[in-house]
Amino acid sequence: MAEPGLAVRRRSRPASARKRSQAPAQLHHAAASPLASKRLSPGFEEAPAEPPVRAAEGECNNDSEEDMFGDYDSFCGNDSLLAQVDDMEQVYLRDKDTDIKAAGEFMLGNPQSGSDQRKQSDFSTSASAAVHKVERDDGFQRNENDLIDNNEEPGDVILDELPSSQFLYLEEMDELSSASKNSAGTKRNDNYMNSCLDKISSPSFCHVAEQRDGNTEVCKGSRCDLSKQESLKDHLKSAMTGNAKAQTLLVSKTKQLKEAVLSKEICVARKTIESSSDDIGPFYGLPSKVKDLLRQFRGIETLYEWQHDCLTLESLQQRKNLIYSLPTSGGKTLVAEILILQELLCRQKDVLMILPYVAIVQEKVWGLSSFGVELGFLVEEYAGSKGRFPPIKRRIKKSLYIATIEKGHALVNSLIETERIDHLGLVVVDELHMLGEGSRGATLEMTLAKILYASKNTQIIGMSATLNNVGDLQKFLQADYYTNNFRPVELKEYIKIQDTIYEVDSKAENGFTFSRLLSFKYSSNLEKADPDHIIALVTEVIPKYSCLIFCPTKKNCENVASMVCKYLNKEFRAHREKEKQDLIKNLKTIGNGSICPVLKYTIPFGIAYHHSGLTNDERKSIEEAYSAGILCLLACTATLAAGVNLPARRVILRAPYVAREFLKKNQYKQMIGRAGRAGIDSAGESILIVQEKDKQLVQDLVNSPLENCYSNLLPEFTKGIQSLLLSLVGLKIAVTLEEIYSFMCCTLLGVQQQLLSKEKSLLDIIKEGVKNLIENGLLKGKISEKDHNSQSILTITQLGKATYKGSIDLAYCNALYRDLKKGLEGLVLESNLHLLYLATPYDMIYNCNPDWMIYLRQFNQLSAAEQKVADIVGVPESFITKKASGQAIRKNVDTGIINRLYLSFVLYTLLKETNVWSVSEKFNMSRGYVQSLLTSAASFASCVLHFCEELEEFWVYKALLTELTKQLTYCVKAELIPLMEVAGVLEARAKQLYNAGYKTLAHLANANPETLVKMIEHLSRRQAKQIVSSAKMLLSEKAEALQEEVDELLRMPTDIPGAC
Ligand SMILES: Nc1ncnc2c1ncn2[C@@H]1O[C@H](COP(=O)(O)OP(=O)(O)OP(=O)(O)O)[C@@H](O)[C@H]1O
Ligand SMILES: [Mg+2]
Repeated sequence: MAEPGLAVRRRSRPASARKRSQAPAQLHHAAASPLASKRLSPGFEEAPAEPPVRAAEGECNNDSEEDMFGDYDSFCGNDSLLAQVDDMEQVYLRDKDTDIKAAGEFMLGNPQSGSDQRKQSDFSTSASAAVHKVERDDGFQRNENDLIDNNEEPGDVILDELPSSQFLYLEEMDELSSASKNSAGTKRNDNYMNSCLDKISSPSFCHVAEQRDGNTEVCKGSRCDLSKQESLKDHLKSAMTGNAKAQTLLVSKTKQLKEAVLSKEICVARKTIESSSDDIGPFYGLPSKVKDLLRQFRGIETLYEWQHDCLTLESLQQRKNLIYSLPTSGGKTLVAEILILQELLCRQKDVLMILPYVAIVQEKVWGLSSFGVELGFLVEEYAGSKGRFPPIKRRIKKSLYIATIEKGHALVNSLIETERIDHLGLVVVDELHMLGEGSRGATLEMTLAKILYASKNTQIIGMSATLNNVGDLQKFLQADYYTNNFRPVELKEYIKIQDTIYEVDSKAENGFTFSRLLSFKYSSNLEKADPDHIIALVTEVIPKYSCLIFCPTKKNCENVASMVCKYLNKEFRAHREKEKQDLIKNLKTIGNGSICPVLKYTIPFGIAYHHSGLTNDERKSIEEAYSAGILCLLACTATLAAGVNLPARRVILRAPYVAREFLKKNQYKQMIGRAGRAGIDSAGESILIVQEKDKQLVQDLVNSPLENCYSNLLPEFTKGIQSLLLSLVGLKIAVTLEEIYSFMCCTLLGVQQQLLSKEKSLLDIIKEGVKNLIENGLLKGKISEKDHNSQSILTITQLGKATYKGSIDLAYCNALYRDLKKGLEGLVLESNLHLLYLATPYDMIYNCNPDWMIYLRQFNQLSAAEQKVADIVGVPESFITKKASGQAIRKNVDTGIINRLYLSFVLYTLLKETNVWSVSEKFNMSRGYVQSLLTSAASFASCVLHFCEELEEFWVYKALLTELTKQLTYCVKAELIPLMEVAGVLEARAKQLYNAGYKTLAHLANANPETLVKMIEHLSRRQAKQIVSSAKMLLSEKAEALQEEVDELLRMPTDIPGAC
């Protein structure tokens, strides 16, 4: 079904409070079983689903953005070997007045000639310096021709800080040189030079040359270069000479040297990893440049001890699957990222990283693009309507697919179908406890089970802060387990009852010990307005430190923010006043002149609310302002606790409830886990405000273990087991009952079957599911009631194939087919209204309550042809008129259709006006809801497109839906689309960039971040650099895709008739 996009359910929402949609009537057939009726039972309507919040990776543990993201385009001030190569080269160039032109001439001329020889030797001084030092240490006598004499000190410095791989590298260099020792020292330098040239000319790593030769094996041992050098040397030399002549000489030479060293490091690292020795290279088998980049981009100097322990685990050395669990803010992501880089750079395999929400995926793409640009791999976004199925085959660079759960599933399906699943070396799942959460948990389980079954060589790594029944998960994932209690900043948990603060203490009899009395002086008025003493609690920390207040509802967030401001004194306004004014101005620009009155009132005090009612642009601005310390207090819903990295000195839980549900332990842990900023706070603290009546429940809550994680394949019937059975047959993973059974035994459901289904055996569940699919026309074949080991083959129908390919919820596939079929009879193409109706997601229509006056007004504004759409889909004009005038209506019109048409009016107006604010006013909906409708529609439109691609009769929809998906994805003026394709660039930023003259992707990719900062308001250096990196990544990804296409087109077929 459509990806939740911005309307996602938060991981912390209780299952019973989750929004679910009723299945249309015609599918009740599929739901005839007790399981199905469980899935479709009513009574679970709740507030609209809430949008995701971004994990501001690496941005919150340091107030100084500039510190963290130094001048990363330059290597100055960087003590890595690369930097030292630079420094030494600079010194050398200064001293010797050497230029690369001479080097170029040398290469063109006679390599043995005396003066040219001298120049070349000098040119490679920096590398020679290290080589010679190794020789000296090994007891070799220094040759009087050695060129290090004048540069001894730098050489020593290098050695002191040289990582172990560098020694390997240098030794290898030395081997090369000693092979030609007889021809004097200069020949050694020639070898080095040639070796560098090989690397330089093939963009970065040694595998490039190998792969071009049709060899996809990773390089093994030192023959890696030697075997290729001779064949490539001449070609590369002349290419280099050309380059040297054409380019700015100093710059290109520096870059080339860096690339040569990096490329060599990667070869050595790869070799080291393959040899599985204890020595794991300069930086966990990775080039030391990775370490430098972590310092520059993330401000990370050293790894935590547990991170080191985890990365050096025996399990990982043996490439076993691994689950690791640490408290919130423990630094889990970094370990996963290092493993990802090892896979991409050293093992040369693609990687899939699965994250829970669209915005978090975008944030990650944005955060890792700069690594991709520097290290030569591609970062591809699979979220919302973005992502290609199957992904483009890349023969040179490896890809890191960053995907939501739904897109990750579709990606894995497409890789299995095209028999490319083996290309996926590693799958990383963040927030692994999501396995236990509704339909997305079911989708995640299917994805992992398919990988386990279809690709024995793909490693799976899962991480989470909130796991309990790890044994089940380990069994399911055939994984080892690592855990640690490490938290960089200590977290102190408190609860407040009346005016007393108690510390949560597991050793105390009732779980709490007295801590202190809250000191405050409240007037009687204030006591009435703030009986829970929120103001007293927040003013202990703000404005100097940051504070989050988690509130049970969205409305409550706004009320709390306003209430606090009402009683704060004026001094709070003075804190960073100018920046707060700028933020208000920015929000006004985003809202095309409108700003939410609550925000307008609270922001001058440094306070804002944060929930799904905000637009994406607003949310991003508020998060950025909070991260930068301009805002010091956010009143937020549980959405903010979901994987997002916006920590605070103090976290207050307004009440132990999320909506009307009592808090679960997992939710509680996630919320309080935001307390304590690594590197900034010495301690973090959480305070849960408790009423006397809830005391016992809270006591149970803090003393209880985390909730278990259970398979959702059964409860999520149509999105769960039914969908899995269908795709198993469709992908030919398992086509007989027996095969299906053996697959299902390996799922989490299989592991927990005894617990989850007491009445029915797994085989009975499977049989019932397959029967349903056959009855619904999605599968073909026979299953006998008695035969438990049926060998008869099941096949998928076209409709079945379209359903799983489009990731359509089985509850809606028949309805979708019928609607599309009906559309063929008379699709109104005067505008996109009719198409929008077909792309309006079914799962949003049952939460919608049309305002009939608005319905009628909007209907009357349509052209005659557009009004016909209403009639065609089954909503007569007379019905709308009567409803609007309050008349009784005898005729029964399907509510689903009425609501769907209403929502398509909203989308239609949105596409026309491209302004969420005006549309939300017109339809009296919250702007956050309007935006989440748009995101869901974009996602569903792309699902419908994939559905149509499998059904010949719907060929006509393909072109139409491709365009519509694009319009829905961006919903901005066409000129902004190229800029918004860049991860993290939302509409407001795109407008600013466009107006400043950055009109294309190429403009952004080639922009100077410093100039961007000067030209664009409210843009930090860090953001500017990330925009440029993301744009560079996207540009290179697009260029490579075109290149792959060209290569494919020109490739000679192997089966030309008549050719021998
Ligand atoms: N070795 C380190 N040194 C300094 N900071 C680090 C280190 N490792 C991670 N961090 C920082 O710590 C912060 C929290 O890390 P991370 O987001 O990985 O936590 P997490 O374990 O995934 O928590 P959660 O369960 O809340 O998602 C990040 O800002 C990250 O950059
Ligand atoms: Mg995390």
